[in-house]
Amino acid sequence: MGFIRTLIFVIIILIIGALVFIYSGSYNVAATNPDHFIVEWILKTTKNYSVKKHSENIERPKLNDETLVKQGHEHYEDMCVGCHGAPGKDPAEGFNPSPPLLKDAAEEMSSAELFWITKNGIKMTAMPAFGLFHSDEEIWSIVAFVKTLPDLTPETYKDSEQSDQPTLEDFTEGEQDEEVGEVQ
Ligand code: HEC
Repeated sequence: MGFIRTLIFVIIILIIGALVFIYSGSYNVAATNPDHFIVEWILKTTKNYSVKKHSENIERPKLNDETLVKQGHEHYEDMCVGCHGAPGKDPAEGFNPSPPLLKDAAEEMSSAELFWITKNGIKMTAMPAFGLFHSDEEIWSIVAFVKTLPDLTPETYKDSEQSDQPTLEDFTEGEQDEEVGEVQ
């Protein structure tokens, strides 16, 4: 009986301690404040196993298709490159956790895992759920492209980018030069 009483007492003290800590505001939520390595390990490991489990039963369509990869590349340029970068382009800074270059994920994760993450996003990070506004077909095309990232160099990435329609830069290049010239 004494043991149970002590246990309940300790639990109550822990809960009160946690509440005091939460309401005191002393925890620094700044993105610039790195996580303790134990917190980081817990979050990373929870994420990895969660993604594995939730993507278990997803069936992958045929991804080895040039048109699909090309479509995926366009979506990647529109929706992913600003955060994740690409060959020759650094990922965005200032996030915690940081968005990684997806080359390693492309090698280490299954297509189903990449699909699940892109569709559903990741809680408590800046990774959005693209499934809200994009069809499964569009998301598979992005996965098909992401899977080719390990084979792309900055040059081949640029080439495939430029083989497409003209970009905004093509239209504004001249204007920007003029503007730069006018600045005194
Ligand atoms: C607003 C920024 C942002 C955008 C836009 C974004 N992501 Fe992310 N993404 C993140 C962040 C931040 C993480 C890291 C999450 C983590 O470490 O748990 C991430 C993680 C991922 C991961 C897991 C990587 C790994 O190694 O664990 C994949 C896969 C991914 N994103 C794919 C995509 C794709 C595909 C797109 C475009 C359709 C995209 N993301 C767009 C911010 C973004």
